[in-house]
Amino acid sequence: MTRQALWGAHGHPAAATGDDPVDLPGTSDVVVVGAGITGLAAALQVAATGRSVTVLEARRAGSGTTGRSTAKLSVLQGTRLSSIARQHPADVVSSYVEANQAAQRWLLELCERLEVPVQRRAAVTYATSSAGARTVRRELEVARSAGLAVDWIERDDDLPFPITGAVRLQDQAQVDPAALVTAMVREARALGVRVVEGVRVTRVAGQDPVRVVSSAGEVDADLVVVATGTPILDRGAFFGRQTAQRSYSVAFRTPLPAVAGMYLAADQPSRSLRDVPDRAEGPVLLVGGAGHPTGRVREHAVRLDELRAWTAEWFPDAEELAAWSAQDYEPARQLPFAGPVLPGADRIWVMGGFAKWGMTNGPAAAMALAGRLAGDAPSWAETLHPWRLRELRAAPQLVHDNAAVGFEMARGWIRPWAAGRGRVCPHLGGVVRWNDAEESWDCPLHGSRFDRAGAVLDGPAVRDLRRLPGARPA
Ligand SMILES: Cc1cc2nc3c(=O)[nH]c(=O)nc-3n(C[C@H](O)[C@H](O)[C@H](O)COP(=O)(O)OP(=O)(O)OC[C@H]3O[C@@H](n4cnc5c(N)ncnc54)[C@H](O)[C@@H]3O)c2cc1C
Ligand code: FES
Repeated sequence: MTRQALWGAHGHPAAATGDDPVDLPGTSDVVVVGAGITGLAAALQVAATGRSVTVLEARRAGSGTTGRSTAKLSVLQGTRLSSIARQHPADVVSSYVEANQAAQRWLLELCERLEVPVQRRAAVTYATSSAGARTVRRELEVARSAGLAVDWIERDDDLPFPITGAVRLQDQAQVDPAALVTAMVREARALGVRVVEGVRVTRVAGQDPVRVVSSAGEVDADLVVVATGTPILDRGAFFGRQTAQRSYSVAFRTPLPAVAGMYLAADQPSRSLRDVPDRAEGPVLLVGGAGHPTGRVREHAVRLDELRAWTAEWFPDAEELAAWSAQDYEPARQLPFAGPVLPGADRIWVMGGFAKWGMTNGPAAAMALAGRLAGDAPSWAETLHPWRLRELRAAPQLVHDNAAVGFEMARGWIRPWAAGRGRVCPHLGGVVRWNDAEESWDCPLHGSRFDRAGAVLDGPAVRDLRRLPGARPA
């Protein structure tokens, strides 16, 4: 297995963008932490308001989830709309749709202007069981009520397997996320944004100014935007409002274009399908799925084998090119968030909770911020605000999610102690598990990840692994 996403296998996302020297400005109107789709969209949109912007990225731009994404730019998002409708009234679902439509428009215009190739495709959520068909019918109804021009299909001759029904939204889009990130970094630099890679932010403190402390020094800012996937700040306890989920992707060369649409199964085990055209290797099929909460399973590599076996059954001529996994965060309240880290703390914004749909929700979060700064926030921005009363409605789900965290905490400490070994996550003391697919240490509590040597990869942790007190070297 390569562990390298298809997109990066032919040049790292940031390889073509060059490097600013690690020489931080002492002050910047705005500091954005994280250079994925969300941070870069925020940087571009805030720079357009005339403010000076510095982006601090721990690794390389796009090296987080964005550079490993399936990168469908779709407003029909599996069964997301009916999941939101289970917890929120219809006007909230409509606002969510509007936010994603606005972000999709912004992104498509940007791609056109920056000459990033985009393919127009229908998005399809399909079922293969009768229970799944009922779920998909519900998605159809919710999507129609929210104003989307979706239709119902009974069969799809494009797929090699039978379906029991599907909801379809025409004229959505897909992109190569590495090409997109590279173009966004170039554009940001052309607008005067400093994009500094290889700088990890370890602390954000104070209010006026806000001081950003990093591995390369400090920057004072009027506003800090934390776009690190899950926020690296413990304030606001966003790590407890969402669950980290890992899922897997395998890219295959196929003799002919394998699928003409962007598919997502409503049934379990879920499968995501899309094509990747215009590759030197010939037509490419992308298969995704087999997800699980980060750090809470013993074996990871078997998940990729599950996708390989499924593909061999339905696309027997497919030949593997790359296999990898990635992480995103499922919010308990089903909605993404973009707003102050604490009520009234308007100088530190956090963005996240995209539930594997951040390619449009990330830019939507950025638009909410830029609108706020320009004094004309879109009406849907309110839906993303993390501190509305509506938050309380997520309380039962939060109790459930955090009970799972408590269970993992206890189990994690008892087992390795009994065995005399173990490594502790520096975030809040979770005992990490070895991930044989990514060769990383993954924390089952809030999804921090560390490389083989213990260096931090993904937050909320900002420091390296520690050994369990009294533990022998592994
Ligand atoms: C398998 C999979 C498939 C997906 N497919 C789709 C799809 O088809 N369509 C869709 O809309 N969405 C999809 N998503 C979701 C989407 O890719 C993500 O929601 C989105 O990329 C998140 O972007 P981001 O910028 O918020 O986070 P990231 O891309 O993870 O960027 C965060 C950045 O912050 C940096 N960082 C972290 N900590 C620090 C620190 N302390 N200091 C400085 N920098 C730091 C990281 O290195 C990283 O580069 C998928 C997700 C997965 C897992
Ligand atoms: S990520 Fe919170 S304890 Fe490890």
